[in-house]
Amino acid sequence: MGFALALGFVERGHSVTVWNRTASKAKPLEARGVRVASSVEDAIADAEIVVGNVNDYPTSAALLSPVARALRHKLFVQLATGTPRQAKEAAAWAREHEIRYLDGAIMATPNFIGQPGCTILYSGEKALFDESSSVFAALGGNALWVGADIGHASALDAAILIVLWGSLFGTWHAAAICEAEGFPLDAFASALGATMPVVEGALKDSLDRIAKRRFAADETTASSVDICHASARLIQEMSKEHRIHPGLTEALETIFGRATIAGRGADDVAAVYQGMRE
Ligand SMILES: NC(=O)c1ccc[n+]([C@@H]2O[C@H](COP(=O)([O-])OP(=O)(O)OC[C@H]3O[C@@H](n4cnc5c(N)ncnc54)[C@H](OP(=O)(O)O)[C@@H]3O)[C@@H](O)[C@H]2O)c1
Repeated sequence: MGFALALGFVERGHSVTVWNRTASKAKPLEARGVRVASSVEDAIADAEIVVGNVNDYPTSAALLSPVARALRHKLFVQLATGTPRQAKEAAAWAREHEIRYLDGAIMATPNFIGQPGCTILYSGEKALFDESSSVFAALGGNALWVGADIGHASALDAAILIVLWGSLFGTWHAAAICEAEGFPLDAFASALGATMPVVEGALKDSLDRIAKRRFAADETTASSVDICHASARLIQEMSKEHRIHPGLTEALETIFGRATIAGRGADDVAAVYQGMRE
């Protein structure tokens, strides 16, 4: 990812210096006009903006703590993936050392960096984001400031990723059902595509209901807790027959079960959400 970020900046005319622990990985960037520094301190010495993208926050902190004085008054943008708590801790450290700080989350794989469809989320002081937004535009067409709360980029990153993971795990479970039943995966892929509008509608409706706490069944309810729980149990039953890993179906049973025990069977299926936070 760091390689792609450096390329994104240099290809849009910015002067870029990189440091990487394994210098040989950064070396090919020299031919593209990037200066490869010999140390972290060397990399940040002349920088106006310092972008961090190592594997995680503790590594980043270990690398930057010894050079905190050199970062003073510069803008540091953390683009490693972390949690809202880690973002808050990093911001407190930055404040203590008079380092201007934005926290970011890259919602893309490296091949998307610099492309119009590349979304990167930023949180922290709006003025800091605004003053450098033309620089952030080098990394992709969709540089989004998501709020002054420094943890919000990480929070939104996690929220979107868990939707992705939920969908991927569902897809893997689905592929196992199809294979076990001898149904071709390419035909499954087309059928899945055709049902996407229904899935998207259900996601949006659920979010709206959760936000408004509108859990009782009403005239727009499409499915009740009971009917969805029953279909989840059928999937569990057929998955058991095919010895498919029970992790996903057991998780569904646990959460659906909470709604059923709480007497929410006749409610809109969005009522299951209450069991996620109790
Ligand atoms: N790849 C993606 O699709 C993607 C998408 C969104 C966000 N991100 C985030 O971007 C960050 C980097 O991801 P990546 O995919 O580039 O991972 P990666 O290929 O594993 O690279 C990790 C980077 O961290 C450095 N590093 C690890 N431990 C270190 C240490 N102890 N001291 C100094 N440097 C250290 C590595 O240096 P060496 O080269 O010397 O090992 C390398 O530059 C992660 O936080 C990731 O979650 C990645």
